[in-house]
Amino acid sequence: MGSDVSGNERHTPVMAEEVKRILIRDPDGVYIDGTIGGGGHAKVLLDKLTDKALYIGIDRDATAIEHCKKRFKNSTTTVELCKGNFSMMNEIAERMGVKGVDGVLLDLGVSSAQIDSPERGFSFSSDGPLDMRMDQDSGINATDLIKSLPERELADLIYEFGEERHSRKIASAIVNFQKKSPVETTSDLSSIVKRVIMGSMKTKSLARVFQALRIAVNEELSSLEKGLTIAVELLNKGGRIVVLSYHSLEDRIVKNQLRDMSKSRIEAPEMPTGYREQVKLLNLLTKKVIRPTESEIRSNPRSRSARLRAAEKV
Ligand SMILES: C[S@@+](CC[C@H](N)C(=O)[O-])C[C@H]1O[C@@H](n2cnc3c(N)ncnc32)[C@H](O)[C@@H]1O
Repeated sequence: MGSDVSGNERHTPVMAEEVKRILIRDPDGVYIDGTIGGGGHAKVLLDKLTDKALYIGIDRDATAIEHCKKRFKNSTTTVELCKGNFSMMNEIAERMGVKGVDGVLLDLGVSSAQIDSPERGFSFSSDGPLDMRMDQDSGINATDLIKSLPERELADLIYEFGEERHSRKIASAIVNFQKKSPVETTSDLSSIVKRVIMGSMKTKSLARVFQALRIAVNEELSSLEKGLTIAVELLNKGGRIVVLSYHSLEDRIVKNQLRDMSKSRIEAPEMPTGYREQVKLLNLLTKKVIRPTESEIRSNPRSRSARLRAAEKV
């Protein structure tokens, strides 16, 4: 991705002040940024950390890691960067000799650099190969994923991950198209969707179909479920987790998982009463979800759908 460095710098971090206020309790602490991207949040958070702190940045996208290496090479706080999935953050931390952390940030979804690079295939507004992999070194791209699925499964995927009610019609049009040639570009896919969806709903349907494929290609929801559990395990007592999500499927997982971990439950229910212990992993810090202000949405329209949830390890 030739234009990546400038592209990454174009990413404006969402609700950065709120993230900083909630996440950083100990300026000398150890923090994991599981989705470092262009380093927008990292820059804001590092400004609050001392030279005793450690900031671990993870991203599946090699270009983001390369970019952040350059961006933070003169940081006074130690910044360790690792290409990987945040669902493996425990192994990444362990390799760095870290056993517990004071904060974890997950800013989900794609970065502006990824959306604005046609060659990554995330956007229906520009033409490029239908790739959609955040990690371009592994996994199956969107063209091959579509090719591998029977029509019924493709329709289910579009319905489940895109919440698109015309999923059957769209899947059938994709399968028909594939009888002649594979769906190789973002323009191929856009033209298929535009042909079957009439009127003003075209753009919404396009966004939903692209979202569905992106979620499936990157197995985003299973990474999130696993990542949340592992992040909470890794937190020190009093450590905090902050998650920014951008659509209802992600937010539902975050909301439910943080809520479940903040309920008291009985450890070892098979033991006699006297041996049982009531445990509670988290205290919710956001009983109500935090949304960006109108003025943030005006200056950064991509923040519009953001929802912030946070919790503290008990
Ligand atoms: C919204 S951007 C993050 C932007 C960043 N907070 C900033 O301010 O520049 C999301 C990033 O998370 C990465 N990502 C998404 N899912 C991931 C996962 N499961 N593991 C690691 N990185 C992931 C994407 O590659 C992308 O770079």
